[in-house]
Amino acid sequence: MKAVGITQFGGPETLQPMALPQPEPREGQLLVKVHACAANPVDYKIRKGLLPMKFEFPLIVGYDVSGVVEAVGEGVADFVPGDAVYYSPELAFQGAYAEYHVVDAGIVTFKPDGLTHVEAASVPLCGMTAWQALFDRAGLRGGETVLVHGAAGGVGAMAIQLAAWSGCEVYATAGPENHDYLEDLGADVIIDYRSHDFVEAVRDATKGRGVDVVLDTVGGEVFARSFTALAPQGCVVAIAPEAMGGVSLEALAPAFFKNAEAHFHLMQRRRDTLDQLARLLERGFLDPVVESVLPLERAAEAHRRLETGHGRGKVVLEIVKG
Ligand SMILES: NC(=O)c1ccc[n+]([C@@H]2O[C@H](COP(=O)([O-])OP(=O)(O)OC[C@H]3O[C@@H](n4cnc5c(N)ncnc54)[C@H](OP(=O)(O)O)[C@@H]3O)[C@@H](O)[C@H]2O)c1
Repeated sequence: MKAVGITQFGGPETLQPMALPQPEPREGQLLVKVHACAANPVDYKIRKGLLPMKFEFPLIVGYDVSGVVEAVGEGVADFVPGDAVYYSPELAFQGAYAEYHVVDAGIVTFKPDGLTHVEAASVPLCGMTAWQALFDRAGLRGGETVLVHGAAGGVGAMAIQLAAWSGCEVYATAGPENHDYLEDLGADVIIDYRSHDFVEAVRDATKGRGVDVVLDTVGGEVFARSFTALAPQGCVVAIAPEAMGGVSLEALAPAFFKNAEAHFHLMQRRRDTLDQLARLLERGFLDPVVESVLPLERAAEAHRRLETGHGRGKVVLEIVKG
C-alpha cells in the first residue's frame, strides 16, 4: 500500500512516500481503507522525536481517520465491510498517512451522516480532547463562563462551539486576524492576546470575578497566569505537556488564593465521546473546521503549516478523492 512515513526523526523533509505491506486485522480489529486523515501538532512532535515513547521505523504518523471498513478480524460484531467509520488511532501504533490502517474496533464508531470523509477526519482528536477537557474534567455546565486559549486552533474551534452549545458564556484568546472567525463559531468575548493582557481583559469583562473554567491549549506562562483569571473555586484544564517548560511552582501560587483546581488532560480514545460528537455534527450543533485539503504526498506541507503555530482549524490529507 501507499503510505507517507519516516525512517528517522527530523524535519518535515523526513516525511517520504513509501510502499508498505497492507496490514491485516487481528482478533478484535478492523482493516480500514483510509479516505482522509487530518494532521495534528502531535504528528510533528512525534516526527521530531519529542514524545517520551518508543517508536519503531518505518513510522507512519496520522491520528484522525475517516474511512470505510475493508475487513474485520475475528470476534468483531459491531462492524461489517462497507461501514463508514471515524476514529483517532492510538499513538502507540502506526498512524494513518496511508491507504489502509488497522485499529481496535473498540475505539471506532460510525462516521456522522451528512459529513464528507474530509470533514469527518477533522473531528476525532480535537473534538474528543475539547469534549473531555470541558465536560469530563472541568465539569462545565450551562450558565458558567469559560476561557479558551488558542481558540482559533483545532482544539479551540471545537471547544468554542461545544461551550457555546452547552449554554456557557465563551471567552477566547486569538490573534486579531481570527476574531471574526471566532465570533462565527460562537465566542462572546474575544481577546487579542498579542496586544492585551488576557488576565486584565477577563477581569474587566467579568467585573473582577474571573471565569469558572480555563481550557489552556498553549501552556507555559499562559497556563500559570490562567489561575489569576479564574473565579474562586475555578478550574484550569491544561492539554499541552510539551509547552510546560519555564513554569515555576512559585508562579502557580495564585491558584491557592482561588482554591483552584487543575487538570492535566490527555485525550482518551473513547467511542462514547465520538458518538456524542457525531450526534451534534449530524444535528448541525457542531461544524467541522477544515482550513485546507492536501493529497497524501504533500504531508510535509501540512506539517510546515501546523508548525507555524497559527493554524485555523484543520489541515486534512485526502487519500481517496471524494
Ligand atoms: N493533551 C491532549 O490530549 C491534546 C490533544 C490535542 C492537542 N493537544 C495539544 O494542544 C495544543 C493545541 O493543539 P491544536 O490542535 O489546537 O493546535 P493548532 O491547531 O496548531 O492551534 C494552535 C493555535 O494556538 C494559537 N496560539 C498560539 N500562541 C498563542 C497564545 N500565546 N495565546 C493564545 N493563542 C495562541 C494560534 O492562534 P493565533 O493564530 O490566533 O495566534 C493557533 O490557532 C498542541 O500543543 C497539541 O499538541 C493535546
